[in-house]
Amino acid sequence: MSQTPITTASGIPVADNQNSLTAGPRGPVLLQDFHLIEKLQHFNRERIPERVVHAKGSGAYGTFTVTHDISKFTKAKLFAAVGKQTETFVRFSTVGGERGSADTERDPRGFAVRFYTEEGNWDLVGNNTPMFFIKDGIKFPDFIHTQKRDPQTNLKSPTMMFDFWSKTPESLHQVTMLFSDRGTPDGYRHMDGFGSHTFSLVNAAGERVYVKWHLKTKQGIRNLSAADAVRLAGSDPDHAQRDLYNAIANGDFPQWEVKLQVATDAQLAAWEQRTGWNPFDLTKVWPHADFPLIPVGVLELNRNPVNYHAEVEQAALSPANIVPGMGYSPDKMLQARLFAYHDAQLYRVGTNHQQLPVNAPRCPFHHQQRDGAMAVGAGGAEQNYAATEAAGSNPQGMGHGEPALALNGGAGRYDGRGKEDDYTQAGNLFRLLPEQEKLNLFENIAGPLSQVSDEIIQRQLGHFDKADAAYGAGVRAALKARGRNVD
Ligand code: HEM
Repeated sequence: MSQTPITTASGIPVADNQNSLTAGPRGPVLLQDFHLIEKLQHFNRERIPERVVHAKGSGAYGTFTVTHDISKFTKAKLFAAVGKQTETFVRFSTVGGERGSADTERDPRGFAVRFYTEEGNWDLVGNNTPMFFIKDGIKFPDFIHTQKRDPQTNLKSPTMMFDFWSKTPESLHQVTMLFSDRGTPDGYRHMDGFGSHTFSLVNAAGERVYVKWHLKTKQGIRNLSAADAVRLAGSDPDHAQRDLYNAIANGDFPQWEVKLQVATDAQLAAWEQRTGWNPFDLTKVWPHADFPLIPVGVLELNRNPVNYHAEVEQAALSPANIVPGMGYSPDKMLQARLFAYHDAQLYRVGTNHQQLPVNAPRCPFHHQQRDGAMAVGAGGAEQNYAATEAAGSNPQGMGHGEPALALNGGAGRYDGRGKEDDYTQAGNLFRLLPEQEKLNLFENIAGPLSQVSDEIIQRQLGHFDKADAAYGAGVRAALKARGRNVD
């Protein structure tokens, strides 16, 4: 590889990058070797904190193209016309492992999409699963601690995991998905993505609908067998990074169909009445039979980042980033996430992380935040304060026409344990699996479950039984085959 002559970070040509400046051929080294000092100092500062979750990941740029008109649901400009294109950035990830962990771990996969729209960045920070383990963000740090390392042994701990899951029955739906074949996708191109939460859309008339976003892989679903996932963790731990990077470098651009489930307030109320399920409960899905998928567009990934650290490690996506024509929902988990991401990024990347090229909007922006570490002068000479203007003028951004959200109920801490149905949808997912995949599920669960105490096993088996008797029986048989007496 030929090398351009190097300079210091200040652009000064470096005379010698191989020999320190010494007093005589044997040293000692002189303090005035500024190049040596700068080189060592910067090296010592190369790492930033890894993401507290989703630390291992891969990123790529792409294009979102509208294929169907959804303007009756939203006035968001990125959907304004069929054929309209918006630049995107996607980061895929695993969840529980560290930055150097294997891509093939049994884990959900993050599927975070940024749309650089003309009205600011819209980040759809989702997973490859339509549901989640918990329904209240207050449990998130506890849940994640059980997925990370034991504080004493520094080992991953099936006991922590199944202790938590067995005492958190609402996790069963996603536990079923996690231990199915979908828990070990073959790279990132062969899996679907889901916004998971219920969000809302608002049209030009100020009418709100609730929606769930889906990204369907056009490459087809492909999963690794449990044995291959373990083998690859040793022989090619960066399997998913390699697969994504090479596909894009070779012009084999992966695509996903972007689709929507849509429901009005009244439809959700009727559905809740019929099913007993809270439509804003993240441990549940909206069945397609009740809310069919509506096509919206195509996402294609077609450009690899040039510098991983600058563009992927420092990427800072947040579910709070939505654009006019969109809204949140009363989902308790979503509410916690609206706070958590920007806060994490202020710590992980810094006060001015939104000024970095991968994070900065592609449209003009005029916020009045100023200064702080590493400010590159966003805002320039523009006025840096807000002042009230005459009624009727709207220079301060006073609302995007989102209709008021009716609330009911007093402020309180509502405990749904024992009152909500945590089993039917988990059972439905189990019953959908082909026979071989059911057997794989039993095996995949029995592996870690066979390593925990009788008490935890019995509590967890109780949940499988309630979802479907065949589910409990299958896991029992697999545990017995591993020498656990579970009658
Ligand atoms: C990353 C918090 C639930 C998907 C993160 C990060 C935090 C976090 C702090 C690191 C952000 C950063 O440093 O850039 C939470 C909390 C949750 C929650 C508090 C529950 C209340 C979820 C759910 C999903 C999800 C339900 C998927 C539907 C992701 C993804 C990333 C991430 C994909 C990685 C984003 C990227 O690639 O940069 N989460 N999370 N999280 N989370 Fe969550």
